[in-house]
Amino acid sequence: MKIIDAQGCLGCHTIDGKGGAVGPNLSQEGNRGHSVHWIEVQIQTPKVHDPSTIMPDHHLNPVQLKTVATYVDSLK
Ligand code: HEC
Repeated sequence: MKIIDAQGCLGCHTIDGKGGAVGPNLSQEGNRGHSVHWIEVQIQTPKVHDPSTIMPDHHLNPVQLKTVATYVDSLK
């Protein structure tokens, strides 16, 4: 959650009632059926999933990336 704060994800996404509405609400991301790997790709290189996305690339180290993706995937 600290990494998510530091990366500014909440500027665009809402988690548990806190954050912005530019991107989809992530509070139930775990129910969408994406794998942790898919979420990692989305965080690092969202253009792979949607070339026109406004979500910026986030450059996290592999441990941080795994931590954030696992956390987001656990939200149900
Ligand atoms: C500038 C706004 C912005 C920021 C900052 C941002 N995102 Fe996004 N995000 C989006 C938008 C818009 C989408 C919608 C899908 C698309 O356009 O690719 C999205 C989609 C997603 C999705 C896929 C949701 C789904 O299931 O369809 C995930 C997961 C995600 N973002 C996680 C994150 C995380 C984690 C961070 C911080 C590291 C972050 N985002 C930062 C705008 C943003």
